Amino acid sequence: MRGRLVVGNWKMNGGLAPNTALLGALSAGWQGGAGRRLGVCVPLPYLAQARDALAGSEITWGAQDVSAHGSGAYTGEVSAAMLAEFGCAFALTGHSERRQLHGETNAQVAAKAAAALDVGVIAIVCIGETLAEREAGQTETVIGDQFDVVAAALGPRLARVVMAYEPVWAIGTGRTASPEQAQTVHAFLRQRLASVGAADVTLLYGGSVKAANAAALFAMPDVDGGLIGGASLDANEFLAIARA
Ligand code: PGA
Repeated sequence: MRGRLVVGNWKMNGGLAPNTALLGALSAGWQGGAGRRLGVCVPLPYLAQARDALAGSEITWGAQDVSAHGSGAYTGEVSAAMLAEFGCAFALTGHSERRQLHGETNAQVAAKAAAALDVGVIAIVCIGETLAEREAGQTETVIGDQFDVVAAALGPRLARVVMAYEPVWAIGTGRTASPEQAQTVHAFLRQRLASVGAADVTLLYGGSVKAANAAALFAMPDVDGGLIGGASLDANEFLAIARA
């Protein structure tokens, strides 16, 4: 369902004490309302802490990855049902760091998204091109391929995902896509979504979003919000982005 959404991706950052301060500040500072939603995707050991700290607030929490498998001999993996038990609203799937550092394929990303959706956890499906791909004029081909594999695997469930366009060259680099660059890809994705009956999917932009550039990005007609890495570790900055 399309709506305004900002999600923080803490990546492998945090600790019990700093988390308490960050989650407390978010919980105290966020009013929500007006159809605006806010969430944080924390490292797995901190899920219970996030759940407890955010209980009674308007902020949701989630994980940064999920297993494609239901249960069994998958050492180190965490199932979607386990995430659901901890109240996760979201699981990121296919973040570019997972694709690049762990060799995750489009098919694996699709299987993980399906596993999450099947237990009621919203998959935030991340897609994006590298700088080399963009400079070679392959942005739409790469994004289209990533999209098509997920769309084919999910079928009608696609309407329940959140999708995040995260150009790899903009992640953690301080080099944000311009609002126009983001809008061009989002419009392309919106068209693809519409062609399979899922035009109402919430589309986030991610990659070096800051309080200073969030409003211009979020003003684009097909940008519904953001997936925020580094800036989500600072409560004031993250709340300012969410209010944009
Ligand atoms: P960044 O990361 O905001 O630090 O660029 C975004 C992401 O990886 O989701």
